[in-house]
Formats: sequence, C-alpha cells, structure tokens
Amino acid sequence: MILALESSCDETAVAAFDPVRGFAGEWVHSQIALHERHGGVVPDLATREHLRHFGPLLARAKSEVGFDQVSQIAVTSGPGLAACLAIGVAAAKALALDLRVPLVGVNHLRGHVWSPFIAVHAEAPADFDARLQALLPHLGLIVSGGNTLLFALDAARRVTVLSSTRDDAAGEALDKGAKLLGLGYPGGPLIEQLALTGRRDAFDFPRGIGRRGELDFSFSGVKTSLRYLIEKMSPADVSARLPDLCASYQQAVLDALARKTRAALEQGEGKYRSLGLSGGVANNRALRAALAAEAQRLRLPFFAAQPQHTGDNAGMIAFAAWADPAGVDGSAGLGLRVEPSAGLVQVTGYL
Ligand SMILES: Nc1ncnc2c1ncn2[C@@H]1O[C@H](COP(=O)(O)OP(=O)(O)OP(=O)(O)O)[C@@H](O)[C@H]1O
Ligand SMILES: [Mg+2]
Repeated sequence: MILALESSCDETAVAAFDPVRGFAGEWVHSQIALHERHGGVVPDLATREHLRHFGPLLARAKSEVGFDQVSQIAVTSGPGLAACLAIGVAAAKALALDLRVPLVGVNHLRGHVWSPFIAVHAEAPADFDARLQALLPHLGLIVSGGNTLLFALDAARRVTVLSSTRDDAAGEALDKGAKLLGLGYPGGPLIEQLALTGRRDAFDFPRGIGRRGELDFSFSGVKTSLRYLIEKMSPADVSARLPDLCASYQQAVLDALARKTRAALEQGEGKYRSLGLSGGVANNRALRAALAAEAQRLRLPFFAAQPQHTGDNAGMIAFAAWADPAGVDGSAGLGLRVEPSAGLVQVTGYL
C-alpha cells in the first residue's frame, strides 16, 4: 500500500492506495472557506493550516485503515507554495522513518497526468497494465488554477509536454474574470453556475492565439477584454446581464481549450488512442462535454478525472507513484528536496 501526502497549496490531503484493491481511503481538509474572504490563497495562512491538519488527518487515516501494510510513502515535492510543500515533505519524512519504508517525491503535475486513469484501474485492477497499454499513446489536457497544458503519454509511459499557456492558466482566467464580475472565489464554479441561464453568444470575447497549428494557450486577452467591456457598462447593467457575461466568457475559455486539443489530435495524425482531461477546471461540465465531443469525432475513448481527483488531492499522487515509478524522485530518499517554483520552465523540465 502506498500512503501519499499532498500539501502544494490550500488542501491538506492523505490517501492510501492499494494496487490490488484500489483506494483504502482518501482524507482531505480543504481551506477554501478560510481563503475565500481574502479573495485568494494566502500562503502564510495555508502553511499554518497544513501544520494544524496533517496530524489529525494522519491519525484518522491510521485508525481507519492501519499503517501495517504501507510499503512506500509518496509526497508532492513540487511545484507549489514552498512553505506548504515543506510541511508535507517533513511529515512524509517522519512517517517514512517511523514505518521504515522508502519515501519518494512526486511532481504534482504528474499526479494530474495520471488522474484520469484512476477510474480505469478501479474497474479492473488486475487488468490495468494491459488496458493502459491499449490506450497509449494518450493525449492529455491539464487545466487547473496554476497550469494549462497539453501533453503526450507514450507507450513507454514517458510524458512530453506539447504546449502550455503563455500567460494565465484557464482556471486563473476564470477566477480573475469572476473577480472582475464581483463574484466570489474560486470563480470557475460560480461562473459555470451563472452561465447555465445565460447566452454563450451574447458577447464576443477573443479565443487566444488563433494561428493555425499553434498549440500554446493565452488567456490574458479574454480577461482584458472583459475588463474593458465592464468599464463601459453601468453596474446595474453588469448585474442584470451576469448570466450572459458568464456564459460568453466561459465559452471563450472553453473554445480555446477545445480548439487546441483538436489541433493537437490532428497533429498526432492518428497516433493517439485516448484523450484525457484533468485539473480543477475538469469539473466544468461544459468542458467535459466539449472534449468528449472531440474524442467522439475521432472515436477515441475519453477519460476525465473524477471530481475527487481533479483539484489538489493525495489520491493522484499515490496513483502516479505506483503507475509511473520511473517518474518519481526517489534518489534523494530522506534528503528529498522541495521544488518550490510553479513556473512553467521548471514544470516542463521536471516532467
Ligand atoms: N466547475 C468548474 N468550472 C470551471 N473551473 C473550475 C470548476 N471547479 C474548479 N474550477 C477551477 O479550478 C481551479 C483549481 O484547480 P486546481 O486546484 O487543480 O488548481 P491549482 O492547484 O491551483 O493548480 P495546479 O494543480 O496546476 O498547481 C480554480 O481556478 C477553479 O476556479
Ligand atoms: Mg493543484
């Protein structure tokens, strides 16, 4: 059994994964309510919350599943908020020493890479390797608050990053858009809810980089365009037209995501055998439908991470450590370092 710890941002999470039976348990303490009133994550508060909550979460995990079967500890070692990561890594080191089992570091994005396959494993754990092999090469889209990237997972389970965002991540664009509209945090789900009763074509927002064949994303234009539009409207008009604004804004973000995914599939010239979607924005129902339609067009199986494995969670960290042992950082053992930067250069290099 692999015991995983995750604390890259504002969720304290623990998961126990058994490759034969699946998850023995997953435990999360979310800090969203605490950060909500500040309109975003406050790193210092997040660090203190991790310090407060890892102990009780681990105690609960131990009382519910026992740690006798644990054969490895996996911990998110980056990217993320440095002090937050350090709490998880310190706790993981203590556990590894106590249980006398090896410790490995897992890149958070590698967790997102593997999260859509957790459901494939859950259906038939014993057949996972054979089923996975039939789904590779795989094209995946990671859409979160910190990243937006397309990657290929080849038959040898190697990850190649094909493109990323040149400015904001898709989730960040939704959160910033929501802030401009006077909505709360995180903005993605709030925009999705309001968009349900609005018209997607009420306003025309830019769709990022339009150049044919270009796979990189850009979301700063759509955000600026919303800002200029709101400045020209009266507050009463903005609030009366909130559903239309949300529906049109969300559609611009989703169109860009779907269009680049389609371009990457086309550039693969038939080599991809499955399509995946992961990260917090993968919760968005319209996005899931749009990508499912892209996959359907090419008759490819489509896998979206399940809701509990979209945002920050330890389940995907445990699963990545198991499914992709070559991708973990095990060399340093208890000297495991924290990789603090969330920058894309480091992310692409690390993957
Ligand atoms: N239903 C939804 N529709 C659209 N966006 C959503 C939805 N649910 C969550 N999000 C967005 O997902 C983002 C959070 O995702 P996640 O927790 O994976 O990001 P992160 O941890 O900040 O980034 P990373 O994992 O890349 O470091 C937020 O921007 C949030 O608005
Ligand atoms: Mg995250």
